[in-house]
Amino acid sequence: MDRRKWLQNAGLGGTAFLLSPLTGEAMTRFSLHNETSDKWINLGANENPYGPFPESRRLVKEYMKTANRYPTLKEELIQQISKKVNLEPEYIMLGAGSSEILGLATLLFLQNGGELLTATPTFRIWMNMARTLGATVNGIPLNKEKKHDLQKMEKSVHANTQMVYICNPNNPSGTEVDHDELVNFLRTVSKKSPILADEVYQDFSDAPSLARLTPEIPNMVVARSFSKIYGLAGMRIGYGIAHPDTIKKLQALQPWSGVSVTQLSLAAGLGALKDKKTFDFSMEKNRESLKITTDFLKERSIRFIPTKTNLLYFSLDRVPEDYLDRMKAQNIIVREVKEADGRWSRVSMGKPEEMKLFCKHLEAMLL
Ligand SMILES: Cc1ncc(COP(=O)(O)O)c(C=O)c1O
Repeated sequence: MDRRKWLQNAGLGGTAFLLSPLTGEAMTRFSLHNETSDKWINLGANENPYGPFPESRRLVKEYMKTANRYPTLKEELIQQISKKVNLEPEYIMLGAGSSEILGLATLLFLQNGGELLTATPTFRIWMNMARTLGATVNGIPLNKEKKHDLQKMEKSVHANTQMVYICNPNNPSGTEVDHDELVNFLRTVSKKSPILADEVYQDFSDAPSLARLTPEIPNMVVARSFSKIYGLAGMRIGYGIAHPDTIKKLQALQPWSGVSVTQLSLAAGLGALKDKKTFDFSMEKNRESLKITTDFLKERSIRFIPTKTNLLYFSLDRVPEDYLDRMKAQNIIVREVKEADGRWSRVSMGKPEEMKLFCKHLEAMLL
């Protein structure tokens, strides 16, 4: 496919699709329009449906009073993150969402082009940037369980590989690879190529974060976010974890390091880390919503991929082609992915009552 045209609309049904140059699979275009208005049930962006935590709201209000000043809360938030990930503050940097960290790592590792090795389908909003830098993208399809095929990926690393991207848990499939297998893979592959590990959904997982490996693997960047379970997608705050030498290189690519995150976002992040009660509540509600949705799919023998994250991937084999439009007509936003083995939907977990409504509308259109 012509790479310059990869952002084209495929014009499938009435919905805008994004065609991937990796394997030709297509995913619904990520559009934010007015889907945040009360009218919509947005099950398309993997956000926390309950909004910012009360402690984030309180601190944002308080710090609004001094928003005429440049941000001062950076060190305090880094201290708190340092406690959470059990690493010295030198290992941590902040960004305007994990996206900024993903972008900076891409710029650092692919500035001279080369090949980006990744799974497919996976998260790729930032991948166009890799192409702009002159890099080629080698996408290795997920295995039958929709997990990263680490063996194939390891075999695909060669002299020109300049970055290996691992999204774990993966978006859109919600799957995780076995932790020990992943650690072995990273230890081997990092000898040949830098690694970008995307842990935006790590808070949902029982497995340890890869952050603890950064002292041992200095060419690995781990990207994390406040946009998901912490309910701060609109505040744009995330962080990167890496060896201090790598952190310095990433910061050197920022116009004014650490100031892309506003004081209000820093305050919201601090509030989110303090508010353990709302974190637990959000996790509990996510489990409840997952149970409602997976029970529904199980009862109808619809294939889905088990997950602990706030996104669920299920087969659209028995769902008509105009699924997205029909959901949209009910004010529900969901995503569709066209893979070689068929059509799939990625649905984010909303509130339990929203998932019941989603299931009701899905039921009505099953073939
Ligand atoms: C896997 C993955 N990485 C990164 C991001 C970007 O998140 P942020 O809001 O932290 O920039 C997302 C957003 O959905 C995501 O799914």
